Amino acid sequence: MKRIVVGISGASGTIYGVRLLEALHADPDVEVHLVMSKWAKVNLSVELPDYTLDRVKALADVVDDANDMGATISSGSFRHDGMVIVPASMKTVAAIATGLGDNLIARAADVTLKEHRQLIVVPRESPFSQIHLQNMLTLARMGVEIIPPIPAFYNQPKTVDDIVNHTVMKLLDRLGIDNSLSPRWEGFEAARAAVKQAVPAARPAGESDIAEVG
Ligand SMILES: Cc1cc2nc3c(=O)[nH]c(=O)nc-3n(C[C@H](O)[C@H](O)[C@H](O)COP(=O)(O)O)c2cc1C
Repeated sequence: MKRIVVGISGASGTIYGVRLLEALHADPDVEVHLVMSKWAKVNLSVELPDYTLDRVKALADVVDDANDMGATISSGSFRHDGMVIVPASMKTVAAIATGLGDNLIARAADVTLKEHRQLIVVPRESPFSQIHLQNMLTLARMGVEIIPPIPAFYNQPKTVDDIVNHTVMKLLDRLGIDNSLSPRWEGFEAARAAVKQAVPAARPAGESDIAEVG
């Protein structure tokens, strides 16, 4: 049984946090502890009208209030197998980088760091300022895994879900949770076959579908 802490902060991209919760919820060997900031809840209503707060909370085994500094996850004596902050606002990144445990997300992350447990941050902002980059570098140097929600296109995403799933696959991989949420790169032969299947009439016969290397 793995115990994972998920923090959702008020950056855009609430769907990444929700999709991770859905994937973890589907795994009977995972216990999920969830904390959402005030602005995460606002963004949920702005970005994901199909998901009520109760629907999101139901995906976790334990839900803690962001102001509850007495919650289990605020203590280093609470053992877990990884914490993910997804999406992570620049305010939350700054709070963690400076050790400012101003809410339960930042406090639980601070504790995760001091106990040398796995911490994954999914920062969302664009463009990044020097302050943002400096804070992320500070965290990376402390062993925090910075996994921005930057889409890949070699897997030919067709929908927003495809793009979201690709990043969430990476999060699950880093947590050591087996998944097949998104297609993986399986070499040029597989990529050529996928291109042919996607646009059979778009290429003249005999012409290479994917540029030859070299
Ligand atoms: C609709 C909306 C989108 C936002 N998107 C971002 C974002 O992508 N990145 C970011 O750093 N802050 C974003 N913010 C601002 C944060 O919500 C704000 O800095 C907040 O104080 C973060 O607090 P938290 O980290 O405790 O959730 C957004 C705010 C709103 C209302």
